[in-house]
Amino acid sequence: MNEKELIRQALEARKRAYTPYSNFQVGAALFSADGRVFTGCNIESASYTPSNCAERTAFFKAVSEGVYDFTAIAIVGGPKDAKELEICAPCGVCRQVMMEFCDPKTFRILLGISPEEYQEYTLEQLLPLGFGPGNLGKERKTND
Ligand code: THU
Repeated sequence: MNEKELIRQALEARKRAYTPYSNFQVGAALFSADGRVFTGCNIESASYTPSNCAERTAFFKAVSEGVYDFTAIAIVGGPKDAKELEICAPCGVCRQVMMEFCDPKTFRILLGISPEEYQEYTLEQLLPLGFGPGNLGKERKTND
């Protein structure tokens, strides 16, 4: 799985975003260490707070299927009718969920505008001094 293909899958997932309230549509494609891709889109709710970001949709799909090891996520987002996408950085809550399941030094976050144009960060760059399982004396759960 290369970066371009992961961004393409995030773009496909974005088409399924359910966003009647914000009209801001996000897609994510999460790459697991065993070579699988879990996609996600944002899903909104009329009562607002139950809304879920694309990134967490992807993580929760994977974890609910017993997959815990991840190497990268591609994220794309922008207003529904935008001619061009913009860089869409994950919200703080999603960064925290990444911290639960990913090594901040190695987990790669690809922020795509298109398969050809993206920025890349580690989780540590986007969540410096992150609080995670280690702070509570726990090992991060893995598939080992
Ligand atoms: N959203 C995501 O899905 N991921 C992000 O990285 C940023 C925000 C969603 C939440 C909400 O449905 C909409 O975008 C506007 O905030």
